[in-house]
Amino acid sequence: MWNDPLLQPFQLKRLTLRNRLMSTAHEPAYTEDGMPKARYRLYHAEKAKGGIALTMIGGSSVVAPDSPQAFGNILLYKDEVVPWLKELADDVHARGAAVMIQITHLGRRTTWSKADWLPVLAPSNVREPAHRAFPKAMEDWDIARVIEAYADGAERVKAAGLDGFELECYGHLIDQFWSPATNKRVDEYGGTLENRMRFGLEVLTAIRKRVGGDLLVGARMVCDEDWDRGLSRAEGVEIAKRLSGSGLIDFVNVIRGHIDTEEALSHVIPGMGSRSAPHLDFSGEVRAATRMPTFHAARIQDVATARHAIESGKLDMVGMTRAHLADPYIARKVAEGREHEIRPCVGMGYCIDSIYSGEAVCIHNAATGREATIPHIVPKIDGPCRKVVVVGAGPAGLEAARVAGERGHEVVVFEAAARPGGQVLIAAALKRRREILGIVDWRLGECARLGVEIRCNAYAGAGDVLDANPDVVVIATGGVPNMSFLDEGEAFATSTWDILSGAVKPASRVVLYDDNGAHPGMTAAEFIAGAGSQLEIVTPERMLAPDVGGTSYPAYFRAFSLAGAAVALNLRLERIERRGNTVAGIFFDEYAKRHIVKEADQIVVDHGSTPVDDLYFELKPSSLNLGEIDHKALLNNRPQTLVGNRHGRYRLFRIGDAVASRNIHAAVYDAIRLMKDA
Ligand SMILES: Cc1cc2nc3c(=O)[nH]c(=O)nc-3n(C[C@H](O)[C@H](O)[C@H](O)COP(=O)(O)O)c2cc1C
Ligand code: SF4
Repeated sequence: MWNDPLLQPFQLKRLTLRNRLMSTAHEPAYTEDGMPKARYRLYHAEKAKGGIALTMIGGSSVVAPDSPQAFGNILLYKDEVVPWLKELADDVHARGAAVMIQITHLGRRTTWSKADWLPVLAPSNVREPAHRAFPKAMEDWDIARVIEAYADGAERVKAAGLDGFELECYGHLIDQFWSPATNKRVDEYGGTLENRMRFGLEVLTAIRKRVGGDLLVGARMVCDEDWDRGLSRAEGVEIAKRLSGSGLIDFVNVIRGHIDTEEALSHVIPGMGSRSAPHLDFSGEVRAATRMPTFHAARIQDVATARHAIESGKLDMVGMTRAHLADPYIARKVAEGREHEIRPCVGMGYCIDSIYSGEAVCIHNAATGREATIPHIVPKIDGPCRKVVVVGAGPAGLEAARVAGERGHEVVVFEAAARPGGQVLIAAALKRRREILGIVDWRLGECARLGVEIRCNAYAGAGDVLDANPDVVVIATGGVPNMSFLDEGEAFATSTWDILSGAVKPASRVVLYDDNGAHPGMTAAEFIAGAGSQLEIVTPERMLAPDVGGTSYPAYFRAFSLAGAAVALNLRLERIERRGNTVAGIFFDEYAKRHIVKEADQIVVDHGSTPVDDLYFELKPSSLNLGEIDHKALLNNRPQTLVGNRHGRYRLFRIGDAVASRNIHAAVYDAIRLMKDA
């Protein structure tokens, strides 16, 4: 029998890891009061249930109050963290996985205007563009205090019974000492490589003194900042060699690149459209040079690439971090020969982008981070099988159909278009974002497995729905581009959907007005720029695309910069007029209180969508619940039982953009939280 390299155990000193799959550190911002409480624990326990060998929790758990949370980080400097960590570790261990934690001092990579309002620290007072704090250059007593804080943190990890920890050494304080870009010191901590390494080695020495040699300690370290101002490849690999030679660490977790701007970070955590495993070969080189157990993650999102990473000897443990946010059951599915059932990570970056504004959620897995209420494995019904009719095969409809199918119901989906997918098909028109189709394709595969019938080219009227004799009807009919905000000239507007669907070709001179602030406008703009048009992007906001997050906007901006696209902020489109062969947009500048006219061959507009809801309102009077959703039941995780019409024949739900213009996550979340109990 074939021994899958991915499923072979790995011996890390005295710790046996049951296979080669791990999730690298990533703060999901699930902490409560800085503590990893139930939500945090359940999130990691689910991966352990799914068969992962090692979960590295707590992206950047902070060791001192002058390293305040940048995105919900665990406060490792508080003693009260120990019982929470212990409960988490016990839960993960009970399910057969190992658990470690990433610890750090963020240095300049945070903000001073938070928590205790202590000055932000760095080796020198060089500002980080991403977090924008002007740091204090550390004095001798700062250095001594922070070294002790690391050792205290390590002691708490040991007390909690975790298997070990790694020091975050890229872009944070330790690397800020290593890197010539941020270390301008002229004392014994700056200048030569030996001096720049001094702080990190003193931290490690203090840690070992405190916790001894048994606890596993690693370094998640940059071995090449890939930056003319930063740490060169030669110096980075030399640091890794010296650390391994010091005997102070047990593994390296390789990083390539720098993270002080969002554009730079987008290459360290590459997203949709970037090549697969861009730093894997380099990680293999570090492994060969250091002979250390080597971990690495960066867009190794499919099992075949992960297997190759192990089989070719480039890595000992392969990080599939976002892949596990999308599907925590990867190892189990591989072991059971169900690889094709793995929900793919499509690299959308919604998870990481959302930690700065809230908490990590996967664009198409609504259960991630909500393990207490939304199941990753949908349970079968214990009552009678129902007939479920879903209208619309976009993400909302397909998710409703999938979940109903998992429950064991008889499901039929009507889709008016020739292909299922809805707005995802439109987004995928931009070649760089084609991977988004995985959201649809995975659901189609699951629906086929579950016996869900999908009828395309089937425009469903009320009669068609009723003929199917449904117990439950789900209206997921989506929307159409919303131009209703214009005072005049709707007929002269081209929608972003017209452009992306290919219905209208980009003209020579295009003004794109984005009053949505999200992906659709940016996707259309990149498409237009790529078609060679002269493009001006206009927004009523003070910045472009406020709802496109930090790791996702750089790819758009790269395209706009390369195409020489112009940008105008703070202008609200009021009307469009035809002027001979051109069109003119009349914009209002709210600050100067004056109108500005922009003429072009085409004005492309994104203002979200208007729900397509006629069928819903037609079906509402003869439904049991009159379309009403009991929010109390929904939010308290109870089934929908409202009866507003005793003579009703079916329960009626409306979900996704058929309710209001939102995004894919809202659509799939609407679907699963209603259908999991249906
Ligand atoms: C939500 C989120 C938060 C992250 N936070 C951290 C962090 O605090 N420390 C860290 O070293 N890496 C962090 N990362 C990076 C991941 O560890 C990993 O390097 C990255 O996601 C690339 O691996 P992947 O392609 O397998 O997802 C984060 C990633 C995500 C998705
Ligand atoms: S949001 Fe996107 S990148 Fe993040 S886990 Fe989900 S599919 Fe992957």
